[in-house]
Amino acid sequence: MSRFDQMVDRKKTQSVKWDTIEANYKQKDLLPMWVADMDFKAPEAVQKAFKNYLEQGVFGYSIVPDSLYEAIINWQKNRHNFTIKKEEILLNSGVVPSLALSVQAYTKPKEAVLIHDPVYPPFAQVVEENDRKLVRSKLNTDDKFTMNLEEMEKLFQKENIRLFILCNPHNPGGRVWSKEELQAVGKLCKKYNVIVVSDEIHQDIVYQPETFTTFQNADPSFKDFSIVLTAATKTFNLAGIKNSMVFIKNEKLRQAFASIQKKNCQDDINTFGVIGTQAAYEGGKDWLDDLLVYLKENINTTYNFFQNELPNVKVSKPEATYLMWLDFSAYHLTDKQLEEKFINEAKVVLNPGISYGPKGSQHMRINLACPRATLKEGLQRIATAFK
Ligand SMILES: Cc1ncc(COP(=O)(O)O)c(C=O)c1O
Repeated sequence: MSRFDQMVDRKKTQSVKWDTIEANYKQKDLLPMWVADMDFKAPEAVQKAFKNYLEQGVFGYSIVPDSLYEAIINWQKNRHNFTIKKEEILLNSGVVPSLALSVQAYTKPKEAVLIHDPVYPPFAQVVEENDRKLVRSKLNTDDKFTMNLEEMEKLFQKENIRLFILCNPHNPGGRVWSKEELQAVGKLCKKYNVIVVSDEIHQDIVYQPETFTTFQNADPSFKDFSIVLTAATKTFNLAGIKNSMVFIKNEKLRQAFASIQKKNCQDDINTFGVIGTQAAYEGGKDWLDDLLVYLKENINTTYNFFQNELPNVKVSKPEATYLMWLDFSAYHLTDKQLEEKFINEAKVVLNPGISYGPKGSQHMRINLACPRATLKEGLQRIATAFK
């Protein structure tokens, strides 16, 4: 038995995934397979580090030790062949807050920001909440997700795009953008003076034979007009610690980001963020390697299930992330009908595809990071509703 087969009761733990659905949908016994966290315990090394801190009993103001920076630098070097120096790393609360600060640092109100369609919903929210113009470029999603560079170029020209937020690897499509794809899109951004914010929070959940390339390793010149956001939180199931790293090699871009942080007194991070991130990077490698094997098997189980039981649902295996994008267009339901069928008949909560952008219509996103028994239960419920 794998450690990830252990059933963890997350009800009444203040979990967004488990503890909000009854109130939202006014129904009991819904199975949550939505919000992107995992129903697994964090690595032992992280649990131990938290316990040690709790046991000493004092929770006053704390420093960020050099050992955290070392852990980040080593992880990036060893896992992603990416060289980053301490002075090029800024720390912040979550990745989404870092997205918002990027929009504030690099654009002015009403200026245009480009994102893909579909993509993780907060990309659109941070643009619109900050009164910038949201422009979406449609990904080709018929088969493997690919970028439409021709359309992107037209939008760069027509809309005078200042900033492009890239999701690398891509949520919800599960694509690991290849070095060549990154080079092509980066070249285009460089040509039109577009700053790139590369959200790389899913960088560690990548399945062989795919390999992850950070945007800044795709070409030596890309560091001059890009910043990278990442965190240990998605990788090690620590979303509650709200901690992220921002890698900025270009001094002007770094100063601009740091200045917005300072203005908002956000240049300080939560102690649990420091402890959890360092412990995960120092002691979580074996846990992560086991996790990737387990998740890959969950992906295979799900893929085979849809092929055999519900072949009208179009699916493909993600190259990265523990999320799968399900195409229900063959059922000819409206987005509302599709969501209602999931809630009222399947009794499973997934993320409606339409929340990821217009191209997400008639799709659902399922989260596969749960024990296999839970996964099979969820798939069975879906089969009963859709057969
Ligand atoms: C692409 C992407 N960015 C950011 C986040 C969340 O980041 P945080 O919780 O650190 O704000 C997620 C969570 O699913 C995500 O998929």
